[in-house]
Amino acid sequence: MRIRIDGGRLLHSQTGELYGASVCYDDVTGKITAIGDETIPADKVETLQGELILPGFIDMHVHLRDPGFTAKETLTSGLQSAAAGGFTHVACMPNTNPPTDAAEIVRDITTRGRDVGKTSVHPIACITVSQKGEALTDFAQLKEAGAIALSDDGKGVQHGRRMLDAMTRAKELDMPIVIHSEDETLSGNGVLHPEAAKRIGVPGLLEESEAAMIARDILLAERTGVHLHVCHVSTEQSVALIRWAKARGVHITAEVTPHHLLLTEALITEDDAVWKVNPPLQGERDRMACLEGFLDGTLDMIATDHAPHTVDEKSRGILRAPFGMVGSEVAFPLLYTYLVLPGIVPLSRLVEAMTRVPATHFGIDGGAMHVGGTADFAIVDLTKEKEIDPDRFYTRGRNTPFAGWRATGWTARTIHLGREIFIAGEERFI
Ligand code: DOR
Ligand code: ZN
Repeated sequence: MRIRIDGGRLLHSQTGELYGASVCYDDVTGKITAIGDETIPADKVETLQGELILPGFIDMHVHLRDPGFTAKETLTSGLQSAAAGGFTHVACMPNTNPPTDAAEIVRDITTRGRDVGKTSVHPIACITVSQKGEALTDFAQLKEAGAIALSDDGKGVQHGRRMLDAMTRAKELDMPIVIHSEDETLSGNGVLHPEAAKRIGVPGLLEESEAAMIARDILLAERTGVHLHVCHVSTEQSVALIRWAKARGVHITAEVTPHHLLLTEALITEDDAVWKVNPPLQGERDRMACLEGFLDGTLDMIATDHAPHTVDEKSRGILRAPFGMVGSEVAFPLLYTYLVLPGIVPLSRLVEAMTRVPATHFGIDGGAMHVGGTADFAIVDLTKEKEIDPDRFYTRGRNTPFAGWRATGWTARTIHLGREIFIAGEERFI
């Protein structure tokens, strides 16, 4: 059946302007058949009220917790949450139980993820067996099974020579190495930025632990020629190093999270683990550097680091609770409301960083809207403003410091491969 959506607004990929147009797609082939006006023939017509029709969003960093930590999240709840946030593709991190270090686990996630019938999931597999930082996993088998990249996210690969071996092998197989940059000899048992840590009376986590590891891995990426992707960049020094590496021609990309673009350690005035995330919320200078790096493309893309935990785990106080915040459902509304609306970030930059840019760097079939391309859309309503209420989330996680913030830019509907995978207000699966 050919479906035509009238009354929406599209973002022009060259000019960055919004313009009214009708989009027609085929729900059997899952392809866009025409972009034009209301005279395009169709079997069914739907009419919007000026909502944006954007390419489906792509998030290269989520924790779906399945297998093993299904009290925090399941594939079903995590992928429904992603769909509710307008995402049509997510890449999930391997710190599951068992960790995603073998082909059958990659296949299990891919198969069960497909059965959920929501957002497409692309597993990122472990660099080292059990994420222990020792023996390398079998990259070729993991790739064969469908792993899109390799990472030990949650922690960094501490041993330099081992990382060099990993990059050499990954380059041979044309697989990106995705790094959680943390020199544990510097970060130690720290839990917050040193300033906030002092106020709360917990161990501080040195900002330098991030840039120190990024520096090492840039040098190794230059030597090996591997595609190095840096997760959740949070400090001024890290941005400067990545800018330097790009100028040298190193094959490097980087992501920044909504929380590191919008929050700083100064907000942490009481012992509430809702603020606890790794890398930690940093200083205002760091936040501004991340924003600048995002605007000039040094930080290529937005990724949420969606990291759900149970209410019980997060109520144990900053010292004992796990690191992490949920992000899938609030990413676009927060960034649109607090960076685009005040004129800090152009809408076109935000959208490309959530669509075309990750698609291009990770070879995902999506992120753009053109005739013959995949019918993947995030239909976003810019008129309704509402308060962020974790109790209404689709994710199992409730851990967000943005509860109570007002935002607009909510996803009204998500279409993936020509099928509706989310309609605002739909029932939760969990
Ligand atoms: O805050 C974080 N949470 N950072 C990480 O690197 C891991 C993640 C998690 O798995 O909870
Ligand atoms: Zn991480």
